[in-house]
Amino acid sequence: MKYTAGIIGLGSCVPDRIMNNFDFEKIMDTSDEWIRTRTGIKERHIVSEGEANTDISIKAAKRAIEDAKIDPKDLDLIIVSTITPDTVLPPTSCLIQEMLGATNAAAFDISAACTGFIYALTIATQFIENGMYKNILVIGAEILSSITDYTDRTTSILFGDGAGAAILSRVDEGGILSTYIGADGSGKDYLFIPAGGSRLGTSVQTIEQNLHTVKMAGNEVFKFAVRKMEEASLEAIKKAGLKLEDVDFLIPHQANIRIINSSAKRLNMDMENVYINIDKYGNMSSASIPVALDEAYRKGKLKKGDNVLLVGFGGGLTWGSTMIKWNL
Ligand code: ACO
Repeated sequence: MKYTAGIIGLGSCVPDRIMNNFDFEKIMDTSDEWIRTRTGIKERHIVSEGEANTDISIKAAKRAIEDAKIDPKDLDLIIVSTITPDTVLPPTSCLIQEMLGATNAAAFDISAACTGFIYALTIATQFIENGMYKNILVIGAEILSSITDYTDRTTSILFGDGAGAAILSRVDEGGILSTYIGADGSGKDYLFIPAGGSRLGTSVQTIEQNLHTVKMAGNEVFKFAVRKMEEASLEAIKKAGLKLEDVDFLIPHQANIRIINSSAKRLNMDMENVYINIDKYGNMSSASIPVALDEAYRKGKLKKGDNVLLVGFGGGLTWGSTMIKWNL
């Protein structure tokens, strides 16, 4: 028997501390005007000394569980999408499992950079559809400030920290109509962290040479993003058996307002029906889409029966999209 998966609860959390564009003016050669006009970002939330991924992802998870009106013991699986876990070992999902007392849940992390939440949602959807699991917690959470080079003005101004969570379950009405994911490893050099893995571990030299932070070819990523946001959106729409004009609301990955505007234009979307919060948070990688989804839902922008499209892209390179008939 094939079941339908749907989101039955959402939650999000960002750290309290805010770093605005004027704070960057004080530490590097940049301006509020440049950052706002080139990226759409005004401020981003950054963790304080000692705060880590699970300090915010547990709050997002608890909010989603409360919203779904389930008990943590009802969870069968926890998937955390992150490139900035508390520790490489154990997985952050296992830390969350213990914090929640979700003793019946299996747990694993996945890594697909900014597309991570869509990848995790796609995996979770399979487990629900094939009947193996009933309730799955999917988290997208990042502390990008921990891998940001605050001497590099071309990357540092983009990133923020945050966490979003969704509970996926069997639903009778609406739910996830389609998911689509893709990757192109030939773009590996456009977005990467040189050291800290098994190829180049951590040493005095790698730290001195600043090799543990994100390096990015911004222009290349920009061109790829504009193309893939449209392609991935059309693919999820087609797989759902819908047409472009059937899409009621678009929740895009929040990397650059110019990428969002151009994707919305290519998809013929009225900007009223596109969720934007990049001005407040910057790019939070795999947390961007679930935080935007949670905000749009809580603000009442998603109506029952709406066709809601999630679309994102990221390092890898990766991309993905999900079409949901809103069921809440
Ligand atoms: N302040 C002032 N000037 C700047 C800054 C800054 N913060 N950053 C770059 N500049 C300068 C550059 O040095 C360059 O100067 P030059 O002409 O004298 O050489 C000029 O501005 C233009 O630089 P570009 O790189 O061409 O600027 P662009 O308009 O492409 O914007 C940006 C750069 C914002 C990075 C854009 O390319 C972008 O958004 N790319 C996509 C990024 C993205 O989506 N990344 C996802 C990563 S998330 C993850 O997976 C962790």
